[in-house]
Amino acid sequence: MLTLVSPAKINLFLRIIRRRQDGYHELASLFQTIDLCDTIHFSLANCDVLTCNDSTTPTDHSNLIFKALSLFRRKTGLKINLSVHLEKRIPQQAGLGGGSSNAATTLWALNQLCDKPVMLNELVAWSAEIGSDIPFFLSEGTAYCTGRGEIFRQVKPLAKTSLYIAKPSQGLSTPQVYGKLDLSCLLQRDPEAALAAFFTGCPVYFNDLETPAFAVLPELTILKSHLQSLGFSEVMMSGSGSAFFCLGNGVPESLPGVAFYHANFINRSTDSWYTHP
Ligand code: C5P
Repeated sequence: MLTLVSPAKINLFLRIIRRRQDGYHELASLFQTIDLCDTIHFSLANCDVLTCNDSTTPTDHSNLIFKALSLFRRKTGLKINLSVHLEKRIPQQAGLGGGSSNAATTLWALNQLCDKPVMLNELVAWSAEIGSDIPFFLSEGTAYCTGRGEIFRQVKPLAKTSLYIAKPSQGLSTPQVYGKLDLSCLLQRDPEAALAAFFTGCPVYFNDLETPAFAVLPELTILKSHLQSLGFSEVMMSGSGSAFFCLGNGVPESLPGVAFYHANFINRSTDSWYTHP
């Protein structure tokens, strides 16, 4: 049995560049893993099984854990089966990458359980076939992502930072949020300059998907203002929402329909997976 944590991510900035012929959007974003984690127990078995403590998580073949397993079998030709128990803590439809993280963690686990037949750069390339955010989770935790999100350039870890995630009970579907995006309204910020600013002590947080997400779920505008009034210096939606990350010295208060999670930036070291803080 191999037990691994599977971390969430936030997008410190997210710039959407253009719509592509294939329907995806070209983006540029600084991704950071945080220690809000699922825990996954893996063992090689006689048949494939996935169980989960959370009844709202699908445990059929639509789950990215199964897609990662099929991908690994197809690419390596290994005839293996996997038994998986997923302890879910990362909220879903939140923009926190929980499903993508689970898929990346599964690829890492399979490679360990099979005595490392595959190089990390191959796992990274394969993982892009099943989701745009999955390669990032095979980085060391701080990366500048481009393309449809699948191309990453690892950057130096940022200073250890503590934050709160605020997740409203209503979630958001990524395609629905992209569907409301009006590219002509976006500020033409230079993402390379935004990246550099994070390493010269003057970070600027922004997310081009906030406006379309607020169009899908107008209550989010009120929630963002409310979170700002709690004293946080930055309140920004992560990915395609509906969760916000809150930085600075604010104090969360009990809000109906909103769950708060305390978290920290985390990174992994080169040869090992993320560990529980
Ligand atoms: O790649 P992934 O399965 O995570 O993408 C889910 C959906 O999000 C896509 O089908 C697409 O509608 C949208 N998307 C996009 N541009 C991206 C990433 C995702 O339009 N860069």
